[in-house]
Amino acid sequence: MDLSSLPGQGGQAMANSLLPRLHGKRVTLRRPIVSDIEDRLASGRHAEIIRMYGGDSRNLESYTREDATAWYQAFLTQPLAWVIEHEGKCVGNARLTVTEADKRARYAIGIFDTSKLGQGLGTEATRLILDYAFKNLGLHRVDLRVLEYNTRAIACYEKCGFVKEGLEREGALVEGKWETDVMMSILEQEYSSLRRSGWEHG
Ligand SMILES: CC(C)(COP(=O)(O)OP(=O)(O)OC[C@H]1O[C@@H](n2cnc3c(N)ncnc32)[C@H](O)[C@@H]1OP(=O)(O)O)[C@@H](O)C(=O)NCCC(=O)NCCS
Repeated sequence: MDLSSLPGQGGQAMANSLLPRLHGKRVTLRRPIVSDIEDRLASGRHAEIIRMYGGDSRNLESYTREDATAWYQAFLTQPLAWVIEHEGKCVGNARLTVTEADKRARYAIGIFDTSKLGQGLGTEATRLILDYAFKNLGLHRVDLRVLEYNTRAIACYEKCGFVKEGLEREGALVEGKWETDVMMSILEQEYSSLRRSGWEHG
């Protein structure tokens, strides 16, 4: 695939309607549809999740229909942003932000339905996206940053082949405390090696 053809990646603008559907055993990754606004609204805003992004989980405001609509609209401007569908509902989202010149991408994922955390859905979604990133987009590297205390996310990423490559010490002030970010990445040759050893992507 020619990366320059992706919207927001230096190429011509196009809707994310061209985003491929990625199918796993329990999740389907797809472009958002209007009814996802209802699922996003029903999931609401939770302190546990806000804190994992480094937000302030104290005095949370309720999640409104306007918030859910803004979430949906922001999606449409992102070329490689998928919603995570599980059992017919949108339970989360994930995206790649590609730097074409270096054939690399930054990865981000979030499950916002708290009843679905820790059930393997994040691992399955991440593996599907890595497969697409390396095999279809021809990327060399996918990386991410995650707060050190987000041990569930780190466990998920490690199961998908990401390795810790560095720390950004006390770079985030979360609820009045300095916190550290972990930088993680996976390279194409590492991904291929995992696939050769029988690693499943979905
Ligand atoms: C990060 C995230 C996408 C991972 O998806 P998930 O479906 O919850 O994770 P998975 O179940 O696939 O994998 C998590 C692993 O960590 C383990 N785990 C669960 N809770 C844990 C905890 N508190 N500490 C350490 N490991 C934990 C699970 O047992 C599982 O490993 P296993 O399959 O070997 O048992 C999801 O938790 C999430 O969206 N969290 C909130 C937002 C967030 O943190 N986003 C990432 C910001 S960088």
